[in-house]
Amino acid sequence: MTELRNDLFLRALRREAVERTPVWIMRQAGRYLPEYREVRRHAGSFMQLCTSPELACKVTMQPLDRFDLDAAILFSDILTIPGAMGLGLDFVEGEGPRFARPVRSKADIDALPLPDPEVELRYVMDAVRLIRSELDGRVPLIGFAGSPWTLATYMVEGGSTATFSLAKQLLYSDPESAHRLLSLLARSVSIYLEAQAAAGAQALMIFDTWGGALTPSAYREFSLAYMSEIVDHLAASKHARDIPVTLFTKGAGSWLKDMAQSGCAALGVDWTVDLGDVRRAVGDQVALQGNMDPAMLYASPTQIREQVSVILQSFGHGNGHIMNLGHGVQPSVDPERVAAFVSAVRELSPAYH
Ligand code: CP3
Repeated sequence: MTELRNDLFLRALRREAVERTPVWIMRQAGRYLPEYREVRRHAGSFMQLCTSPELACKVTMQPLDRFDLDAAILFSDILTIPGAMGLGLDFVEGEGPRFARPVRSKADIDALPLPDPEVELRYVMDAVRLIRSELDGRVPLIGFAGSPWTLATYMVEGGSTATFSLAKQLLYSDPESAHRLLSLLARSVSIYLEAQAAAGAQALMIFDTWGGALTPSAYREFSLAYMSEIVDHLAASKHARDIPVTLFTKGAGSWLKDMAQSGCAALGVDWTVDLGDVRRAVGDQVALQGNMDPAMLYASPTQIREQVSVILQSFGHGNGHIMNLGHGVQPSVDPERVAAFVSAVRELSPAYH
């Protein structure tokens, strides 16, 4: 394997010394980039883009060619697993994901298969292998999956939701079936992430976008417990035992303390909490990634720079910080503002190391 020329991100995940704070951006490949929209138009649909390793590789590299980023993230989607389970995944233009056959009954849950990552999801593994070879040691590659709970919300609701009525109805009216579904998803995510590591992913991240919609006890029972199961599986696995895992629950707030005990290497932190407070609470256990409000990228370059400075100051001196937004970059953001964010981190962060 080619030697990694920039390992700042991996060192920061291990809370080792770095000369500046590494930076990458959630959803860094996507619609805010005109070159992405161009490839997407030619591909015809988002799923065609995801299922072509060549195109997935091409759009993974686009943000790296534009900005001085310290990590690449596999171009794919969290919904590949439910797609591979046969739910009929489609991304409707302007509306987001839709499942033709949502999971609505005990029988639907019992009928769900466990996809083989190297068979039904082979296109993802081929993309990981191709991206690793294309990166050629430039920066590390992050592989990812959705959390069981977040995947379950899409599978049960049949798409995006504002209220989580059906998914929560399942949790509260038939917890046994909910646990069967979440347990299958935890197994599926575990082998999927392990396969990504075997294919060449150098860090792994679990996106729990909707964990924050739960109550504290429901979060522990239906989301965190299954993410912990995945972390345990990976730590005991042949291919992923040394691969750092980041957990990101949007809206985690005070639950970050519980998350830090899962055995993960790092926590993704959204913009609703003070990074310094989080560091004081859990910084001796995990690295922290975040946490600028994605909407700050609508502000002027001067304001963006000030906000970067506020976050660096809030974390303070020392190791274990990866700069990022607190959630994905919005499609209507000007790429110049992203450039301002990345260069502010490059310029201001050496003073903290
Ligand atoms: O970070 C990256 O650059 C890697 C790519 C990535 C995508 N989706 C590409 C994508 C990642 C890490 C994801 C994760 C994902 N997908 C999450 C978790 C993270 C988060 O943002 O909360 C979720 C909840 C999804 C599900 C999903 N995928 C939705 C709800 C949508 C539609 C809404 C939207 O933003 O368009 C998608 C589609 C999607 N995934 C796009 C991209 C670039 C846009 C599709 C297009 O080009 O038309």
